[in-house]
Amino acid sequence: MKTESLGDQIALEHLFLDFMQMKDFAKNPIIMKRARGVWYEDVNGKKYLDGLSGIFVVNVGHGNRRVIDAIHEQLEEMTFGPPLHSTNVRAIQLARLLTDLMPGDLHTLKFFSGGSESTEAAMKLAKQYHKQTGNPNKYKVISRYQGYHGSTMGALAASGTTKRKSPFEPFGPGYVKVFPPTCYRCPYGLEYPGCGVLCASIVEKVIKEEDPSTVAAIIVEPIGNTGGIITPPPEYFRILREICDKHNILLIFDEIITGFGRTGEWFAAQTFGTTPDVICMGKGISSGYTPMGGIAISDRIAKAFLGTAEENVQFAHGNTFGGNPLSAAIALANVTEIKERDLPTKARERGSQVWKRLEEMKRLGIVGDIRGKGLLIGIEFVKDAKTKEQFPDSVNLGVRIGKMALEKGLILRYDPHWIAFAPPLIISEDETDKMMDIFEECTTTVLSSVK
Ligand SMILES: Cc1ncc(COP(=O)(O)O)c(C=O)c1O
Repeated sequence: MKTESLGDQIALEHLFLDFMQMKDFAKNPIIMKRARGVWYEDVNGKKYLDGLSGIFVVNVGHGNRRVIDAIHEQLEEMTFGPPLHSTNVRAIQLARLLTDLMPGDLHTLKFFSGGSESTEAAMKLAKQYHKQTGNPNKYKVISRYQGYHGSTMGALAASGTTKRKSPFEPFGPGYVKVFPPTCYRCPYGLEYPGCGVLCASIVEKVIKEEDPSTVAAIIVEPIGNTGGIITPPPEYFRILREICDKHNILLIFDEIITGFGRTGEWFAAQTFGTTPDVICMGKGISSGYTPMGGIAISDRIAKAFLGTAEENVQFAHGNTFGGNPLSAAIALANVTEIKERDLPTKARERGSQVWKRLEEMKRLGIVGDIRGKGLLIGIEFVKDAKTKEQFPDSVNLGVRIGKMALEKGLILRYDPHWIAFAPPLIISEDETDKMMDIFEECTTTVLSSVK
């Protein structure tokens, strides 16, 4: 099907995509038609290797038979029931399955329709928790520069990605930022481990300056995507956990990208050996077969929301589509698939393969840092690997490599200085090699025009 036959010019001018200049996009639009396994196909029949799981979403791959069958079955059964007056069999089954996979005692679940709803809910939960446990002045949320927690106003206020948030400022009060653990370019000019993990311990100083009796929660992505696959040193979360315990602050992990096997365990909480009070889920919970999200809450916190009707302590929060039977059935099939095929282990295996190929590329002299866990891996480019000097922004190296890869049929996450790999966890050894072959070829070609 030619794009013209879709009335593309007119249609595209009336369709805003995400963070995208539509005038540029309309000149050479990518219009997908079909997807199977780790492959997309566009309306012109061009195939794309999905090196990004859509956008960190399709963990079980496209066109998964178990999930498709579950959709058909559930369509016949029941598609909607609001979480206001009842629940449904599938939501209960999903909650039961997830509690077995969660770290620690995160055994209470609430479902939503995406990541932003999940992070908003987690922050609201923290505020209400403190209000009804004798600390009504705790309202501030600490988060990190370069982080991203979603597009809605509260989630965005907690986000630290300047370009995405500054058009919408000012936000409500009570959002405090700290620097993320960008070890390769330490904001304090220090080096690990001599630094004593200052990026974590300084959070306590910030809390003391803010007044601990005003701080409700810390929300962090275990591995930060938007800053370039920011991966903390091993002690980082243990220190944050201790600080939170000491000052009665809820630790919230935004696992919207890192959940469901992506980092080589079910959740990054397990990868890093730290149990938060709340885990936010999205993306991989349904592998994108339906919009879906959720939060898992520890028993200790959930207890504060259970009481008599007169006490009025239930979580004062709701969304029309949360845990609807169709989404729950899809997530149930998706999580079962991840479990039965042991995809967290596959993520570790294929992740090592990607890592090895990137290590080999150090011979090109522009690989500054490789970071991530499992099948969430980033590479940072530098002009000089010894001094860590970056290419000038005008070179736009990562973007040029990413765009060339796209032309050659490989989808990656790209930025001027880094590129991320996060293919479906079902990717084969051969497909992983193909992905890395295309990436290496594009890097070498772009580099030859730069140096
Ligand atoms: C870490 C993180 N949190 C939250 C969100 C928001 O999720 P959604 O776009 O489903 O609302 C995203 C989306 O990219 C994300 O990457």
